[in-house]
Amino acid sequence: MESFPIAWVREQFPALKLSIDRMPAIFLDGPGGTQVPESVIRAVSDYYRTSNSNLGGQFLTSRNTLAIVQRARAALAEFFNASHAEEIVFGQNMTSLTFCLSRVLAKSWAPASELIVTSLDHDANVSPWRLAAAEKGATVKTWEFRKENCSLDLEDLRRLISDRTVLIAVTLASNAVGSLVDVQSVAKLAKEVGAKLFVDAVHFAPHGKIDVQMLGCDFLACSAYKFFGPHIGVLWARREWLTQTESFKVRPASDEPPGKWETGTQSFESIAGTLAALDYLRNLASRTSATTSLNAAMDSIRRYELGLSEQFLSSIARNRRVKVYGISDPKQVAKRTPTFALRLEGMHPDVAAQKLGERGVLVWSGHFYAVDLIERLGLSEQGGVIRVGFVHYNTVEEVDRTLEALEVL
Ligand SMILES: Cc1ncc(COP(=O)(O)O)c(C=O)c1O
Repeated sequence: MESFPIAWVREQFPALKLSIDRMPAIFLDGPGGTQVPESVIRAVSDYYRTSNSNLGGQFLTSRNTLAIVQRARAALAEFFNASHAEEIVFGQNMTSLTFCLSRVLAKSWAPASELIVTSLDHDANVSPWRLAAAEKGATVKTWEFRKENCSLDLEDLRRLISDRTVLIAVTLASNAVGSLVDVQSVAKLAKEVGAKLFVDAVHFAPHGKIDVQMLGCDFLACSAYKFFGPHIGVLWARREWLTQTESFKVRPASDEPPGKWETGTQSFESIAGTLAALDYLRNLASRTSATTSLNAAMDSIRRYELGLSEQFLSSIARNRRVKVYGISDPKQVAKRTPTFALRLEGMHPDVAAQKLGERGVLVWSGHFYAVDLIERLGLSEQGGVIRVGFVHYNTVEEVDRTLEALEVL
């Protein structure tokens, strides 16, 4: 494994010092929300101390708030490789932003329109589209994942797509089983028929570089609490679309993006924390390369996490009681994030998660809102799966301790 400043990384996250029954806690709950660096905690509280206000005032704290929002937008534009800071729209969370966007897009749909969603996705990228389509009498088709590797196959999409397709909604990576999706190829197919492409980047965001130009999508949403920041959602769309499309807004809110898309008062303290989370990533980049670029940070995180995935999958195969759902070949780690869905023979996932929790290993159990995925795997009635989710603050030793804990359960 290449040298990664893991000791420095861990020092930045105060929560990682937690002990449970005198055992150091191992945080493997990242896919449900990551821990945050001290600098994020400080930025949120500093906002209240020095800048707490609303936008548009002729005084210092209001100007401070504006400056924080502008800097955060610019940093997120870099994070996504967006062309303009105004292409970044803040909102309550990814789910709310997606519901809002679905209502706007649905205005142009007709009963003959067709949408494509997937069975790999979190329901936040399924139900908003289904509900909006139902209001218009439009058809929703499901791009089913292949059960053998819990991955989406482009051949299956080709069979669903037609010149009636108006929207494809797909994730960059599954929050339950970790499989990546070839969104670039999906975008090419969508373009051929003039369909819009909405990408859910919530799960992928803490694991690697996001480049909206390279992906070729029309919309991309994610949530800062999954990439070391506070609870807030972020949507990216092209400036021309944001400018030309009518939004649901009150009078006399701005007619220009992003203001026309950001209803009501935003969580400025969370925006301050999001900016600090991205600054933390820049700081990490400077420790692994000669730059402070967010790309460099995410590339080094990706390389480090590939090692953790390989280590986990190589060893878990020896545990005869464990079944891994999704890509389980250690040579194929490049096709997934380090998020693993498991079941232990003869043990309900909630019981397994509770027992692991007592040993200081914090994992989620259930469906994680990936309801269609869990149902298609036939696990809805059996409590779903255990989700072991590594992020870059986890260590090689923690992977070993997790494997041991699974062994003795
Ligand atoms: C892949 C994925 N998409 C969407 C969501 C919903 O995000 P939010 O909580 O910001 O609405 C989650 C949350 O777990 C997720 O993992």
